[in-house]
Formats: sequence, C-alpha cells, structure tokens
Amino acid sequence: MKHLSLLTACVLGLAGCSSSTEPPADPPDEAAEERPADTAVLPEEFADMDPADAARRGPQGIGEARDVFHELLSRHDVIDREVEDLPNGVRTVTTSTDPEVAALIRLHVRQMVARLSEGMPVRRWDPLFAELVKHHEAITIEIEEVPGGLRVVETSDDPQVVLLIRQHAHRGVSEFVERGFDRASEPSPLPEGY
Ligand code: HEM
Repeated sequence: MKHLSLLTACVLGLAGCSSSTEPPADPPDEAAEERPADTAVLPEEFADMDPADAARRGPQGIGEARDVFHELLSRHDVIDREVEDLPNGVRTVTTSTDPEVAALIRLHVRQMVARLSEGMPVRRWDPLFAELVKHHEAITIEIEEVPGGLRVVETSDDPQVVLLIRQHAHRGVSEFVERGFDRASEPSPLPEGY
C-alpha cells in the first residue's frame, strides 16, 4: 500500500502498521476478539467477518463487501454526510445516529480502502469507479473516527486525480447517501475537464 499514510493503515488495522494499540487485520479470530466496540453491534453475518481479509479475497470477498454496501444503500436515509473541497482533494464526514449503520460505514470504508490499495475493481462497469481504481496509487486516504462514523481526508498530488476524488465524493458517495439503490444502479460520470 504505497500511498496510504501510516496513520490510515493503523486506523484500518492493515498490514504494515506497527502500532501495538490497533488490532492486526488477521488472523480473523484475533481481529474478531479485538474489534472496536462499534463494530460489535453489527449483525451476526458481519460481526464474524474480517473486513480486510474479505476485501482481498477477490470474487468471493466482494460478496461480503457487497452485503455491506447494499445494507448502507438500503439504510441511506439514516446517514448524514458533509463534503468539503480541499485544494488537493476532499474532507468528508459520514455519520449515522444508528450505531449499527455507523459500524457499517466504518466497515465499508475499511473494505473499500483495502480493495483500492490492491487495485481490486469495484463497480467496474462504472466509468468513474474504474478510473479511480486505475489511479489508486496516486491517492492518499486518512481516516479518523468521529462519533457515529468517520472523517475522511482524501488527497492527491496529481490534479487530474483530484478531479476524480472530488467527483467520487460528490457524485458517487453523496448521491448514494441521498438516493440509495435508485442511484446505485446508474453509472457515475467522469468529472468535467478530466
Ligand atoms: C449509502 C451508501 C454508501 C456510503 C454511506 C458510502 C460511504 C463511503 C465513504 C464514507 C467513503 C470514504 C470516501 C468519502 O467519504 O468520500 C467511501 C469510499 C468508497 N466507497 Fe462507498 N459508500 C456507499 C456506497 C458505495 C457503493 C454502492 C460502492 C460500490 C459499489 C462504494 C464504493 C466505494 C469505494 C470504491 C470507495 C473508496 C474509494 C475512495 O475513497 O477513493 N460505496 N464510501
């Protein structure tokens, strides 16, 4: 994971983080034991899953990641989201007062960042997502837990990738939150000027 900061790797529990306070991504049993309190309120089928491992497992793994974002899409009306543009990217805050949904938001981002860091496709039929995965090495993601969810700062040194990051935040995730499954079945346009 070349461009994820150490802070991010630690928050996500991904390999390469040397912090002793964060649980490792695997083995699964340890991860389940030390999983943060918020994740413990997940429904049983999610609680037993090691997200980083599920995200890496390819065609089978995506099934579990898909369960998570489908659940988010179906509960989109209890999700709040703010997006602020930064000169080199975005800062987002995505939360829910429902603790189960808050846990799903955290799990989803962890899974997606793990997939992205390995260049594994998601929504490969969607031009914006395909392009985002193609440029994953130029993207830096920092994640901080806030009450009810996450604050995410996503940046790039490449101005073209900054356009992708902003488009993903505004026209991807924010529209999923606004409209749920109706939006998820539509492709996301590439940004103007890309
Ligand atoms: C209501 C539904 C959803 C919520 C609340 C949600 C939330 C988030 C959040 C908070 C991020 C971190 C980046 C940001 O804040 O902009 C993120 C990243 C991501 N999401 Fe979702 N998401 C949802 C649906 C989906 C769906 C349906 C997909 C794909 C099938 C998806 C794929 C991704 C990917 C690939 C990333 C990482 C890419 C990146 O951050 O650059 N998300 N999502």
